[in-house]
Amino acid sequence: MNATGGRLAGRTAIVTGSAQGIGRGIAEVFARERANVVIADINPTTGHSTATEIADRFGVPAVFFEADVTSRTSSAALARSVRDRFGRIDVLCHNAGIYPPASIEETTDELWDRVLTTNLKSALIMVSAVAGAMKSQKYGRIVFTSSITGPITGIARYTHYGASKAGILGFMRSAAIELAEHGVTVNAVLPGNIVTPGMVAQGAEYMDAQTRRIPMRRLGTPQDIGHAMLFFASEEAEYVTGQTLVVDGGQVLPEA
Ligand SMILES: NC(=O)c1ccc[n+]([C@@H]2O[C@H](COP(=O)([O-])OP(=O)(O)OC[C@H]3O[C@@H](n4cnc5c(N)ncnc54)[C@H](O)[C@@H]3O)[C@@H](O)[C@H]2O)c1
Repeated sequence: MNATGGRLAGRTAIVTGSAQGIGRGIAEVFARERANVVIADINPTTGHSTATEIADRFGVPAVFFEADVTSRTSSAALARSVRDRFGRIDVLCHNAGIYPPASIEETTDELWDRVLTTNLKSALIMVSAVAGAMKSQKYGRIVFTSSITGPITGIARYTHYGASKAGILGFMRSAAIELAEHGVTVNAVLPGNIVTPGMVAQGAEYMDAQTRRIPMRRLGTPQDIGHAMLFFASEEAEYVTGQTLVVDGGQVLPEA
């Protein structure tokens, strides 16, 4: 991961939920490819330190902007700040998401709304915030972090989460059509089980059980997801829109 590329040189990329976990991995891969990286997150403590560490390690502009993807005001302010600082918004990786487990009976209206707003309504909010800039540039790359959970698989106690991650693909396909004539592509990466602080919080038992189910016999890394995101975020992916890429070490393949 230390060799430098240049596939995003001169491009400005916003990565939401990138103070830690998958988002941080995406930001690191983009920084290695010489992008100006915007760490957008609700957590200022980890957000600032992540931005500083990435800037130091890769020698590119990496800045933290505090932003809540569930808020139109906050997301619009983020987009304004990024344009003021870098002049453009070339890439949006909308990755922020939450996955608090709850059985169907434990899932209150409040919890359902919180998960669906953070994981799905935020797609509308974030794309609305950057669409104007991307359309005026006649260039944009939007990539969502969906999941295998929902579009392909299910897990007990994740009905809200599965619904949100399947829903984002429905949003993605229609947005891809709407934005195609403006030079803006919209795609999604579907991670399997990736080692992040959020995943570690699910417990060692969960992680061991998932590892046993994966043909490659390892959990994924945030950089595994970053590399897939990089393809969709690149200039070379100009003719690819409305598509999904599963990155899961083969987890969804076995018949039984
Ligand atoms: N870890 C996995 O195995 C896995 C698998 C499939 C999909 N995903 C998805 O990947 C994404 C990242 O997951 P992770 O495991 O890295 O999670 P994580 O909990 O480790 O990190 C999530 C980050 O998002 C930020 N965030 C949360 N709510 C936010 C908001 N309203 N506005 C801005 N930032 C916010 C958090 O502060 C945190 O920094 C999520 O969308 C998740 O659903 C994760």
